[in-house]
Amino acid sequence: MRFETAALHGGHKIDKETLSFGVPVHRTASYLFKSTEHAANLFSLKEPGNIYTRIGNPTQAVLEERLAMLEGGAASLALASGTAAIFYSIINLCEAGDEVVAANNLYGGTYSQFNSILPQLGIKVRLVDPKNPANFEAAINDKTKALFCETIGNPGLTMTDIEAVAKIGQKHHLPLIVDSTFTPPCLLRPLDYGANIVIHSLTKWIGGHGTVLGGIVTDGGNFDWTDPKFTLFNEPDTSYHGLRYAHDLGDMNSIAFALRMRLVPLRNLGACISPDNCWAFLQGIETLSLRMERHSKNGIAVAEFLQNHNKVGWVNYPGLTNNENHATASHYLKNGFGGMVAFGIKGEPDAGKRFIESLKLFAHLANVGDAKSLAIHPASTTHSQLSSEQLAEAGISASMIRLSIGIEHIDDILEDLEQALADN
Ligand SMILES: Cc1ncc(COP(=O)(O)O)c(C=O)c1O
Repeated sequence: MRFETAALHGGHKIDKETLSFGVPVHRTASYLFKSTEHAANLFSLKEPGNIYTRIGNPTQAVLEERLAMLEGGAASLALASGTAAIFYSIINLCEAGDEVVAANNLYGGTYSQFNSILPQLGIKVRLVDPKNPANFEAAINDKTKALFCETIGNPGLTMTDIEAVAKIGQKHHLPLIVDSTFTPPCLLRPLDYGANIVIHSLTKWIGGHGTVLGGIVTDGGNFDWTDPKFTLFNEPDTSYHGLRYAHDLGDMNSIAFALRMRLVPLRNLGACISPDNCWAFLQGIETLSLRMERHSKNGIAVAEFLQNHNKVGWVNYPGLTNNENHATASHYLKNGFGGMVAFGIKGEPDAGKRFIESLKLFAHLANVGDAKSLAIHPASTTHSQLSSEQLAEAGISASMIRLSIGIEHIDDILEDLEQALADN
């Protein structure tokens, strides 16, 4: 199936009893066992099936299979939020004493998780400037277990050269984990460029309507976990029947990463997604490619409008031909550059605050990827926990206004920006 078709049909097998054409929402916590033998077989992975919704649910399974198809991956695991998806991806392969090399231009929540929470667990994250992929290699040592980056950083909008970072990963036999939230799979599939694990906050464009929270991790099935340095995949897991995830899963060994994440972090820490949210994300995915076309079309129109406006000091949109990122972004983004635009108004920093308060159509809130247009001032909100040096490293200035361009009529979007700029 091609992308648009898989987005509508992927992963859904019609239930033979009810013949329900829509994906059913399985609103249940548990599933009956047919016998004690059946129960034991499910727990020991001898038979596939449902046990308890913290570990999986048939509505969730459709979402996971559909996303894996769209991403070109081998298996996906849906979770309660993008934040949980990032945390579980790291702790699924790192123990105390291990290190991760990550880009320094990350979403503020990820930055805090890496900078404050992971060190509490003894996991050190070395943050590097992703503009030069060689910086990743320079920070690798014998404790490194993974490389991590966002495709387009939030909110600096720097595009990472994924292929170059993946090659460094291959050279050192380290998996590349990519947060592709700003580039849904109709714009970019990081696995096609050598990444191994792809993460999305489903909350953004994939859900697409700002109504539900969720995250997903897709395992490319393209990494050899039998390398003994990945102890969590090679030593027997005493908490799970002595299983060695890289060796004992038969034809599922290639998806050891996704399977271990379900059986260990998800099962025991519990950031599960609700069946209702899975259903809402499936609705969002049906129109994903159509919405992304409009987000991208409106995104470039807004970037060009701002660039030509006499009150605007600077504009950052990877689709602008004079953008410092344009060459890298054009290499990866063949179907549009998405809906994120950052810019600054000339003059004092308070001009940005006045602009945001004058907006009428744009909603002032902390989210991106809604069908409706949104605006925020990152330095005083989503990234306010960063020091001034960390803000500068992540490419966030005091004047930066971040716009998430929606799919409204472009004239209404431009009129709102024009009237808010006129107030300055
Ligand atoms: C790039 C990126 N990754 C991850 C997240 C976290 O996702 P969630 O809000 O679903 O936990 C966000 C949230 O804004 C984000 O922008």
